[in-house]
Amino acid sequence: MDYFEELLKKPSIFKDESKLDINFIPDELPHREKELSLLSQLFLTLITNPNSISRKILITGKTGIGKTVTVKLFGDILKKASRKRNISIKYVHINCRKERSGYKVLIKIIRSIHKHFPQRGYSPQDLLEIVIEYLNKYDLHLLIVLDELSYLINKGEDLIYSLTRINDDSMNSQQRLSIIGIVRDISCLNNLDSSTLSTLQRNIINFDEYSREQIFNIIKFRADLSLNQNALSDDLIEMISEILFKNGDIRYGLNILWRAAKIAESQSLKYINAECIRAGNQNLVPYSTQDILKYMASPKLIFLLAIIKSLKVSEKTQISFLDISKIYNIVCENTRLKPRSYSQLWNYLQEFHRENLILIKVKSENIKGRKTFIKIPNIELSKFEKIILNILSHRGLKI
Ligand SMILES: Nc1ncnc2c1ncn2[C@@H]1O[C@H](COP(=O)(O)OP(=O)(O)OP(=O)(O)O)[C@@H](O)[C@H]1O
Ligand SMILES: [Mg+2]
Repeated sequence: MDYFEELLKKPSIFKDESKLDINFIPDELPHREKELSLLSQLFLTLITNPNSISRKILITGKTGIGKTVTVKLFGDILKKASRKRNISIKYVHINCRKERSGYKVLIKIIRSIHKHFPQRGYSPQDLLEIVIEYLNKYDLHLLIVLDELSYLINKGEDLIYSLTRINDDSMNSQQRLSIIGIVRDISCLNNLDSSTLSTLQRNIINFDEYSREQIFNIIKFRADLSLNQNALSDDLIEMISEILFKNGDIRYGLNILWRAAKIAESQSLKYINAECIRAGNQNLVPYSTQDILKYMASPKLIFLLAIIKSLKVSEKTQISFLDISKIYNIVCENTRLKPRSYSQLWNYLQEFHRENLILIKVKSENIKGRKTFIKIPNIELSKFEKIILNILSHRGLKI
């Protein structure tokens, strides 16, 4: 039997599966034209009068509404426009959550100019000076995008401070560095010193949530790019938009669409039907959650696992911190991990809450004071547990 021939005979739902990938950058973005145009206006001077100004922009808006993809597309547009005019502009997009420390962010910045720059052996101050030296030497303007900037708070404030100041101190009259910061919620930046904050807050572009109609158009646009004609009817796009409208996360919609298409294909259907969408939407762990887990440090991941296990054992919808710590200690014992301090665990809880993994509810209980309860409303526990165990076992940790 010729397996390839058999497979090729099957009707295909996909035209180009890669265009449904979360990281794919389309060359146009429906309903983000206004933001692209605004960014172009703000950065126009980089092209008309190179190195005369330094722009610092902050972008805010909820999860999955196109902040990252819009800025990346803008980066492409800027690179093209500058190349055409022989102006040297470098664009570097850094995800602060993935880099995890100010030092790593700096290394990434340097490597965007010098590919093989060594990982270690320099102080942050050295690195900053090297960046400036390179920019002057190669006559470059660098646009640094600090995506998910909130992850540098408490770890890399100094870096944010220095980067926003670089032009003031060290470059004579040449302005060689611009910054775009991206955060979901501006309040996470409150810990920054007030002058850094005010520098960043001077230009804020807030990305609005998409309306239901806009969500429809966007899903249709991505379906047209990736699926064969007629594989998905407008009614079904409506159905997906309905599901998405609650939280507006397009990333989640692309996931449903991809899974529904795969299900249709596995059943040798010519078209996606409503049942495929339903099945595709079931137990779907959003990609953003999986991504957060993948880059989470192991001690924190183990604490999250303890929360899930405690909720599973208790069979209740919410659980107290005390109950979690009992299970946490057992998990630590099994893995020979030293349990983290109370305050560290408390920090983890706040972070999980910010990352949309858990909900924290504080209840006043008579005179004794307040009690904290933890809930996991969105994700099926056994599935959640499996994903974490999987990640940990890839890191050589068996539980
Ligand atoms: N207007 C649009 N047209 C086409 N695709 C879009 C549009 N807006 C968002 N998307 C797609 O939706 C997904 C989520 O967008 P993106 O990653 O930019 O979200 P985000 O706002 O950065 O979210 P987060 O805060 O979670 O990082 C991406 O795969 C992106 O390509
Ligand atoms: Mg993003």
